[in-house]
Amino acid sequence: MSETAYLNGEFLPLGEARVSVLDRGFIFGDGVYEVIPAYSRRPFRLSEHLARLQHSLDAIRLANPMPDAEWTRLIGELVARHSPEDQSIYLQVTRGVARRDHAFPKDSKPTVFMMSGPLTSPPEEQVENGVPCITASDFRWLKCDVKTISLLGNCLLRQAAADAGAAEVVLFRDGRMTEASASNVFVVRDGRLLAPPKDHLILPGITYDVVLELAAACGIPVELRAPTEQEVRGADEIWLSSSTKEVLAVTTLDGKPVGSGRPGEAFRVVYREYQEFKRRLARAAA
Ligand SMILES: Cc1ncc(COP(=O)(O)O)c(C=O)c1O
Repeated sequence: MSETAYLNGEFLPLGEARVSVLDRGFIFGDGVYEVIPAYSRRPFRLSEHLARLQHSLDAIRLANPMPDAEWTRLIGELVARHSPEDQSIYLQVTRGVARRDHAFPKDSKPTVFMMSGPLTSPPEEQVENGVPCITASDFRWLKCDVKTISLLGNCLLRQAAADAGAAEVVLFRDGRMTEASASNVFVVRDGRLLAPPKDHLILPGITYDVVLELAAACGIPVELRAPTEQEVRGADEIWLSSSTKEVLAVTTLDGKPVGSGRPGEAFRVVYREYQEFKRRLARAAA
């Protein structure tokens, strides 16, 4: 099956989808997006993703182009048009096409775009051995809770990680850990899981919620506070989470081992629960 996109009311081959060079998404990065995993062809936590989309749209003062029921129908159709059982749905809404002017146009129509790609779990090797990360100062803007398509800060940070052969970059702002360039970050110290609170300094990850729920179900005490840089550097374990990474252990930070230098015991417990959780989703969809 060839890749199909949705653009402004129609489904068409991805390679044929076109937007104007005057689209404010292209000119200003004036838009928001979502990435929604679909497991066993069922969009995962769709209402939470649509609520986060609404939060992002409200933050940039852009009206939602359609009700949730219509998003649900279109996302379902996009999934149905692709063959992988597990898919990653990307959707983007921009402020549309207008003459270039920073102030909002009075009457532009939002551009709505969606595509689907296969969703694959992280390779076994990364799960077994963990991944290397570097650290950097979080120089992004102060509305990191908004899932904006203006991702230049995140791209620069992620490239710094790629240049260093690292999987991600753990970020610090004012001496406290925030998140990573495309993932949330958790720290384990003395058996407690430390998670930065969902404020304006991090993206409220949907997988972040899953990790906290699974940790609580496994009896791991959770503290919602941003760890200090010192606490991160002396952590027993560090984890990353995102819809594509699921939950992954960080085993080196700036070239130094995290804890024992192997994925820790708390990680193994939560990772196992995560896989069981996915199997339950697959059974429910069967
Ligand atoms: C900056 C940032 N933080 C966290 C996340 C994790 O969010 P989710 O769990 O919804 O994938 C992402 C996902 O892309 C991200 O870009």
